[in-house]
Parts: sequence; C-alpha cells; structure tokens
Amino acid sequence: MNWSYIEVPLRYGQGKHGVEQGPSKLRTLGLETLLPATTKQHTIRVLPESELINSEEHLKRVDGVLYTVQELAEVVDAEVQAKRFPLIVGGDHSMAIGTLAGLAKTGPYGVIWVDAHADLNTGETSPSGNIHGMPLAAAMGMGDIRLTEVGGREPKLAPEHLVYMALRDIDEGEIREINRLGIKVITVEEIRTRGVDVMMEEALTYLRARVDRFYLSFDMDSLDAKLVPGTGTPVDQGLTAAEGKAILAEAMKADDLIAIELVELNPSLDHDDTTAQLAFELCETILKSKENLLLESETV
Ligand code: ARG
Ligand code: MN
Ligand code: MN
Ligand code: MN
Repeated sequence: MNWSYIEVPLRYGQGKHGVEQGPSKLRTLGLETLLPATTKQHTIRVLPESELINSEEHLKRVDGVLYTVQELAEVVDAEVQAKRFPLIVGGDHSMAIGTLAGLAKTGPYGVIWVDAHADLNTGETSPSGNIHGMPLAAAMGMGDIRLTEVGGREPKLAPEHLVYMALRDIDEGEIREINRLGIKVITVEEIRTRGVDVMMEEALTYLRARVDRFYLSFDMDSLDAKLVPGTGTPVDQGLTAAEGKAILAEAMKADDLIAIELVELNPSLDHDDTTAQLAFELCETILKSKENLLLESETV
C-alpha cells in the first residue's frame, strides 16, 4: 500500500488556539519515523490570521475554514486517484468538509465517524457558530451554500452511508436530524458490552450493503474526557484507549478502507503531552497495522 500523509494545521473551525499545532506535535514525537519511505507528504495551507475576517456569528471564521478545505478536497481527490491511502491529521474537525468533498469526486463512499459529537449542525442549529460542529451537515448539503458547495453543488454524502460511533453529546437540532434521516448510531455502551470487533463488523456490514468503500474519521474526543485533556471539547463516558486503538486496527484490516483521519489534538490544552502521546499511539496503530507490515515485508 502506498501512503499519503496529509497535515492540516487548521484551527478556524473552533475558538481555541493550539489545535493547529496537532500535526507539528506529532512530528516532534517522531511520527515521520513511522511513515514508510515512499509516503507522499503534504501540508495544507491555512489563511494567515491577519487575513481573517471574523464577522459572522453563526459561521465563525468561515473564510479561514473555506481557504483550507478547498485545497484539502483537491489533494485528497488527487491522492485517492493516484491509488495512495491518505492518513490525514488535524487540525479541527471542520477540515473534514474538505476530506468528504475530496472523496466524493470519485463516487459514493461510506463513513465511520468516531466522535462524541454528531458534527451535524448548520449555522441555524449550532449553539456555538463553530464550523467544526458542521462538517457532516455540509457534506449532506445542509446549511450555508459556501460550505455545501465546496467541491461542487451535489451532496457529498448520503445519510444512509454514515455510521456514528461513540456519539454522546448531541445538540437538539442534531438529534432531530439524526432521527429524521435515520442515521445509524453505535454507542460506547454497545461497544463495551458487545465488543469492538462485533460493532465494527456491524458497521461494515451496514455500509457494505450500500457502498463499496469507506473512510473513517477519528475525533480525539471520542475517547473519554479523562484521557484527552488536550482536545477542545472533551466529553465524559467515552472510549478507552484500547477501544480506540481496536477500532482503528479493525478498520485497517478492511481492504475497502480508502482513507483515515485523526483530528482535534490540541497540544496547548494538553497535560504533559498525554493526549499527544495517545494520538501518536493511534497513528502507530494505523501505520503499523498487520496488513501494512505484511505488504511492507513483501516488497523488501
Ligand atoms: N456540538 C457542538 C457545536 O456544534 C460541539 C461540536 C464539537 N465538534 C468537534 N469536532 N469537536 O458547537
Ligand atoms: Mn468532531
Ligand atoms: Mn467531537
Ligand atoms: Mn488543562
């Protein structure tokens, strides 16, 4: 497998400084040594703070988000077309507007969204105006046209092609939409009682009945708040580190997985690099997955 490593130092989708340093922190911890030599590396540009016009209360720093996600969409599309497997690291979750739009260029796909939050708000339903709470709505064609038309007018994702995992902090408007659209939700409770492998199998069976490829987006706040001081919106009752790693390992076993994304590491909020270390270990799980090691040794 040929890898593509895409860094997205974006923070404009939320209000806290530091999340833009997620990718550089992972590098400091030695991430580069985990990347196979043939990995194509990219760093997506962000708008300088001085060029930001923060005037919209319901879509904060929208110009800053748009600037980055447009380029990310193009890079993700190009990498998938080149048959490379993108590992995309953030940065806040608004960047997924770009990932979702980029993947849509080559046709339908499924999504496993591992997150405490639904990220299904629009400017109208959002309690914060933060765009990191909106990427899935934008991808489904809901909300402000500037967000929905990134990568083209057509919706980038169908509600029946989405599975949530570890969801537990949902806004009123989001609950309404999840119910109206009938989106599949897998809870932490189910993961704990029935097992990660069983629930991943269930998610994949659901998606495979509808699409022939999928991507997984992993928000650090899917993990329990106690484990991740270094994330902007931590939520109690989350996944254990072992559960998080097992989800990624299971996903990596699937040959119809086309991309993976890790977001919302904020080194400035962290305590002694514990969250950063955990994010690093999650990347290690991804990059050292059995299948990858197998393929690597084949080519030696
Ligand atoms: N639901 C809240 C909002 O829309 C929080 C979203 C958090 N999203 C995230 N990607 N961490 O403001
Ligand atoms: Mn999120
Ligand atoms: Mn979240
Ligand atoms: Mn703290």
